Amino acid sequence: MQMPAQDKPRKHGAAAGTAVAPARADWTIAQGWDRYSAAEHGVWKTLFERQTRLLPGRACDAFVEGMRQLPIDASQIPDFRALSEVLMQHTGWQVVAVPGLVPDEVFFEHLANRRFPAGQFIRGAHELDYLEEPDVFHDVFGHVPMLMNPVMADFVQAYGVGGLRAKQLGVLPLLARVYWYTVEFGLVQQRDGLRIYGSGIASSYTESVFALDDPSPNRIGFALERVMRTNYRIDDFQESYFVLDDLAQLLELAQIDFAPLYARIGQAPELQPGEVLPQDHMLQRGSGDYHHAGRSSACSPLHPPGA
Ligand SMILES: [Fe+2]
Repeated sequence: MQMPAQDKPRKHGAAAGTAVAPARADWTIAQGWDRYSAAEHGVWKTLFERQTRLLPGRACDAFVEGMRQLPIDASQIPDFRALSEVLMQHTGWQVVAVPGLVPDEVFFEHLANRRFPAGQFIRGAHELDYLEEPDVFHDVFGHVPMLMNPVMADFVQAYGVGGLRAKQLGVLPLLARVYWYTVEFGLVQQRDGLRIYGSGIASSYTESVFALDDPSPNRIGFALERVMRTNYRIDDFQESYFVLDDLAQLLELAQIDFAPLYARIGQAPELQPGEVLPQDHMLQRGSGDYHHAGRSSACSPLHPPGA
C-alpha cells in the first residue's frame, strides 16, 4: 500500500523512510523465518485469533475459502515458502519478503509478475492497531487469501502492469485510487449480505466493524471513473466504501484500457472522501458522524501503491 505521492517519498508502504538501500535490485530479502522470536509469533497469534473470531459473517466467501486452503493458522507467522507453494498451484502467485517500503516501480514489477511483496516484520505487541508500514500480518492475512481467488489474482497482476504504465504517464494517483477502493478497502454485495474483501479492512480489527456496521460511512456502488476521482484517507477509517455487485467486476476492470480514461478524469474535479454525487448508486448514505466528530480510530494508516 502507499501514500499520496505529493506528501511522501516515492515508496510503497506507509510511514516514511525506514528502508535502506537494498542488496537486491528487486528489494526482496530472505524472510528469515527461523529467526522470528517467540514473542513475534505470539503477536501473530494474538492478531490472528482476534481477527478470525470477528470475520465469520463479515469476510466474503472468497476470502474465507482462500484462508481455508492456505497453510495459515494461529500458531506461527506463516513461512512464505509454504504459502507460495500453495498459491502457485492455485493461481500462479508467490509471496516474496521485503523489508517494508519499496519504490513504486519495484512494487508494480512484482505484481506484474505475480509476486506479492510482503513485509517481513511484524508489529509490536504494544501497537496491535497501529502500523507505520504494512507488516506481515496485514500483507499475509489481509492480502494472500484473496490472491487464491482467480479473479483477484488476475486483477492484481493487471494492476501491476497498469501501474508501471501509469507511473510513466504521471497519472499514478488516479490508478492508485482504484487499488485503494478495491484491493485495500473494497466491499462486495453477496447474496447473504454485504461482505469485506479489501485487505485493509480484513486485517483491521476496528475497521472490520466500522466498514460494515457503523452508520457513519457512505456505502456506494462501485463506478470506475467516480472512484478514480475520489481522494481517500490514509490515516483513519474511510468516509466512503465502494461496493462491488460481484467480484467478477474486477475481471472487467483488469481488461479496461485506462489510457483514454486518464485524460478525461484528469480534467474532472477531484472528489473528497465523504462527498456524494446525485448520480451515485447509494447503498447507504452515511451520517458522517464519525469524521465530523473528529474522532480518531488509531487504526492502521495503510498506504496504497502509487497514491
Ligand atoms: Fe495492503
